[in-house]
Amino acid sequence: MKDKQELKNAINKLKKDKNAIILAHNYQIEEVQDIADFIGDSYDLSRQAASSNADIIVFCGVHFMAETANILSPNKIVILPDKEAGCPMADTIKASDVRKMRSKYPDAAVVCYINTSAAVKAECEACCTSANAVKIVNSLPQEKIIFLPDKNLGNYVKENTAKEIILWDGCCHIHDRTTIEELRKVQAKYPDAPIVVHPECNSEVVNEADFVGGTNAMMSYVKESNMKRFIIGTEVGMLYPLKNQSPEKDFIILTDRFICPDMKLITLEKIYDSLKNLQPQIIVPPEIAKKALKAVNKMLEV
Ligand code: 13P
Ligand code: SF4
Repeated sequence: MKDKQELKNAINKLKKDKNAIILAHNYQIEEVQDIADFIGDSYDLSRQAASSNADIIVFCGVHFMAETANILSPNKIVILPDKEAGCPMADTIKASDVRKMRSKYPDAAVVCYINTSAAVKAECEACCTSANAVKIVNSLPQEKIIFLPDKNLGNYVKENTAKEIILWDGCCHIHDRTTIEELRKVQAKYPDAPIVVHPECNSEVVNEADFVGGTNAMMSYVKESNMKRFIIGTEVGMLYPLKNQSPEKDFIILTDRFICPDMKLITLEKIYDSLKNLQPQIIVPPEIAKKALKAVNKMLEV
């Protein structure tokens, strides 16, 4: 059994010997963020993976993120240190469900949030993130759009576009569970603090927010703001990169119930083992990867 410092040294040595990089999502536990080469949101990390010269990508996040990295970098080895780390929201929809939706609304285009499996992406016209969802929807020629799987982000899009939006009934139960009462309570305690929330939160909460955006967008908003204190409505791991970026500012989590158990599965021990054994690898079958890449590229074009 190695102690933490020995583990970190061993990981750094393996990383160098194998020409690997470690990418960590903003929600990862602190010691995982500390050892990462890049920390960011789901989309930014995949782009980092694609532009890096590394042969091996250790993706500290959840399954769909590692898949996206593999879609964008088919020649690299992508490792997810715990293959059980999934996204329950992404798992609410399968490729066959998308096909069924399509046959019900044949004149609609399908836009999927990046939180979807590669197989689902392969069935869609375009992929999007929380940062560009409205832009992507507006860029398509169709007037009718099936938006999936997040109904909360979908509702946010609906309010910001003239197009007809058909929703899939999925959501992130971690973000969706916050209530307006919880928000009011925190707001009463810190009336001057801007409310910064992820669009995966339920619509009532999103409508009250001063800023709505994905995790990287939150980082930029806080950095540019001259306010001193912020109420943060997203997974609790987010407080760590925010505090690292702006140590002079204070961050209050909207609710302690904002914990994504899947994001917490990755540990230093698992990073070490996976880098040593190059397992578990995430490999998207080439036929699916090719189709999914089209949807991802459509987003990149816009
Ligand atoms: P971001 O892409 O904004 O980092 O969000 C990913 C996610 O899973 C949010 O719950
Ligand atoms: Fe999925 Fe929600 Fe966890 Fe993000 S926080 S990975 S959307 S379950």
